[in-house]
Amino acid sequence: MTAQPVLLSGVVGDPLEAPPLRWGVLGAGYIGGSFADAVTHHTTSTVLATGSREVAKAVKFAAEHGIDRAYGSYEELVADPDVDAIYVATPHSHHHDHALLAIGAGKHVLVEKAFTRNAAEAREVIDAARSAGVFVMEAMMTRHLPHMVALTEIIGRGDIGEVREIRASFDVDVPFDPQHRMFDADLAGGALLDLGIYPLSFAVDLLGSPDEVRASGLLTPTGVDAQETIVLRYGQQALATLSTSVRTSRPQTATIIGSAGRIDIAESYFLPTTFTVTTADGTATSYDGLLRSESGEVYSEGKQFEAAEVARCVAAGLTESPRMTLDQSLELMELMDEVRAQIGVRYPGE
Ligand SMILES: NC(=O)c1ccc[n+]([C@@H]2O[C@H](COP(=O)([O-])OP(=O)(O)OC[C@H]3O[C@@H](n4cnc5c(N)ncnc54)[C@H](OP(=O)(O)O)[C@@H]3O)[C@@H](O)[C@H]2O)c1
Repeated sequence: MTAQPVLLSGVVGDPLEAPPLRWGVLGAGYIGGSFADAVTHHTTSTVLATGSREVAKAVKFAAEHGIDRAYGSYEELVADPDVDAIYVATPHSHHHDHALLAIGAGKHVLVEKAFTRNAAEAREVIDAARSAGVFVMEAMMTRHLPHMVALTEIIGRGDIGEVREIRASFDVDVPFDPQHRMFDADLAGGALLDLGIYPLSFAVDLLGSPDEVRASGLLTPTGVDAQETIVLRYGQQALATLSTSVRTSRPQTATIIGSAGRIDIAESYFLPTTFTVTTADGTATSYDGLLRSESGEVYSEGKQFEAAEVARCVAAGLTESPRMTLDQSLELMELMDEVRAQIGVRYPGE
């Protein structure tokens, strides 16, 4: 083991060095606030405006997060000519309509995960984005974090040989509440689109498209998925065993096993974190991708990296991020459609 972990501070561009963008946050909820704070405190961009279905809620949210403009409708938000990019922070059921609203207004768009409810909706958003020529990306924050970029390079140069197995999960024990977004079929709730997308995206990021998907799951009384295990098979080379649940909890770690070593990612593998590479001769090297404030305090917020990616891509004239392409978002939606078909989850209207 190296005495000191290798620091990953220079592996991806510093979000504070990305060009500025003026953001509008669509949906004054939990994740909208988290994104606004990350942009304000850790980038040179600003959150200029927010839009909510209720003006009073928008005003309160704007005051809490230091945002200048508050609109009582999403339509007014996307019509603001000074807003460059919209962050869609509504439930999965509404991502399609809200992304199309922003694209129709000519804005660049960052859409919270899951990109849409299903692949058919994703295709419509992607087609609209490509016709309008605006930048659109799914907010799969993990892809842009220093530890993910570093371990992708380590795997790519063969340090652990050929990848043969990935194990990852994301479980959160949420008390059952039929009114909560997570359990509401009308809002496209369930473990998979909310949490399971993280291990799924992690495996697809590292191994690409699987040849076979097998899933087994349990449902909630509201008909969405409560718990499932998914196995992805890659030819005769590798398996990814992934699980997710809203009724159990476990450490949010992940392991990548290769023919000549392994990588163990510490908790939580989808947020800024540390990992250890152990090669066949037993040599272990630790890498530190944690974020620290100037006073040395560790913090887990990582949304500034995806916000910076949008800003860099827009400034470079790109309409997609090479780290999270629209085809990759479509593929994730197709995989999740397949998992839901196998375990028997259909959202209303599908
Ligand atoms: N990346 C991450 O770390 C992370 C973490 C948690 C959640 N998420 C994702 O973020 C998205 C939103 O999750 P959240 O936890 O922020 O949800 P939330 O707090 O319930 O907020 C969602 C917001 O969506 C708006 N909305 C529009 N139509 C709605 C409807 N019919 N019912 C309820 N809300 C509606 C509401 O804003 P107004 O009332 O202001 O209009 C509401 O505040 C989801 O896609 C989720 O998967 C990401």
